[in-house]
Amino acid sequence: MIRASSIAHNLGMRFNLGTLLVLAAAPVPFLCAAKPQTSPSTQNCEDVYKNIAVFKGVPAKDLIPAMQFMCASLKYECVDCHEENDYAAETRTKESARKMVILQRDINDKHFGGKLEVTCMSCHNGREKPNSLPLPATVKLRHDKVPPNASVSALFGRHIKASGAEMPMLVLKGSMTETSDHSDKKDKTPYELIQAKGGLFRLTFKHGTFGFDGKTVWTGEYPMSDEPAAIFGRMGRSWRGRDAFAGLEKTSVSGIATINGKKTTVVRGTRAMTGSTEELYFDNKSGLLIRLVNVTRSSIGAVVSTIDYDGFKSVGNAKVPMKVKFLSPDGTVWDVAYSNATVSQEVKENLFTRGGK
Ligand code: HEC
Ligand code: HEC
Repeated sequence: MIRASSIAHNLGMRFNLGTLLVLAAAPVPFLCAAKPQTSPSTQNCEDVYKNIAVFKGVPAKDLIPAMQFMCASLKYECVDCHEENDYAAETRTKESARKMVILQRDINDKHFGGKLEVTCMSCHNGREKPNSLPLPATVKLRHDKVPPNASVSALFGRHIKASGAEMPMLVLKGSMTETSDHSDKKDKTPYELIQAKGGLFRLTFKHGTFGFDGKTVWTGEYPMSDEPAAIFGRMGRSWRGRDAFAGLEKTSVSGIATINGKKTTVVRGTRAMTGSTEELYFDNKSGLLIRLVNVTRSSIGAVVSTIDYDGFKSVGNAKVPMKVKFLSPDGTVWDVAYSNATVSQEVKENLFTRGGK
């Protein structure tokens, strides 16, 4: 009799120490059963194992590789689905896995002519819970537990105080570097943003001039709507002044997270104007908003974009992020670095109106 532990080793199974000890002490039935008396090629799983449902009619020699495939696809160990001492016993995850085997077969039979195209790996990709969103590597939507004393109004209030409750008109000048997953090209171009009370802004960069007049986001002579308006609305948003968080509804503290080494508390809310969900990450130390994650739904899935604020500098009575990084759902990164930030006293009337100069 070959020792179970060496079989386990040869199979490359991810047994934990406990399993290993049990196996070494008393070889579990399936390892004996895997060496049947008759020719293995003629036996099916149900002839060899005790509790077979979905692998009925499948050759017995398939079972262990199939188990290893499940482990590998979900980064699971055998004991994540099995009771250590009884592999035939029912478990919650085993039951889920059975449904998944059926799901996988259905998809392939119905849509891929029975070819093995979609597997556990296609969806799970090394995770217990598959991602249903194309999430950037830097973003997680599940956070660690909410601290019991955290409150949305306290977090908002602290940010407003830290960034300057009064809102002077600010003129920010610098450059934007564009990098993309789709090309190696780096492209550095001028970037200018003017922001004023009431969320008004005027943004000029390589893609044109965009603004917000208090009602409508526009570009050049034209009003914008739907997602394009929402995207540029977020780009120009200053998050300053007493009404910095106006328009956010159903807000709640959704957890804590670490962003670029900074401990943050996260607030989640919805914005009726754009129909999207926003997550706001407040730096525990400074109280400032350092990340916005935006989730916009479509009928087939949601897209996620982020804006990171960094390099805060005092300008007049405001704290201004001199570095802003936009990450779009397709992986394009716009890195904005301001070299110049000034408070302007004279507000030109039509600066923020459509077609205004
Ligand atoms: C994702 C869950 C999952 C993982 C991980 C998993 N199994 Fe299984 N295992 C199952 C399911 C489901 C069945 C029942 C198959 C059926 O109903 O036809 C099963 C059945 C078995 C059986 C048959 C038991 C019997 O007598 O009925 C053995 C033996 C077994 N697994 C071994 C392993 C080993 C060894 C590993 C680690 C390499 C492993 N399994 C990992 C889900 C899993
Ligand atoms: C078409 C996509 C898809 C395929 C293929 C697929 N799964 Fe899943 N699986 C999911 C989804 C979605 C969930 C639900 C996750 C959640 O609850 O958030 C899930 C859940 C599970 C769970 C339950 C996890 C838990 O938290 O309890 C297990 C176990 C599992 N899958 C195993 C498998 C195995 C094994 C295969 C391959 C035979 C497989 N899945 C194939 C999409 C898939």
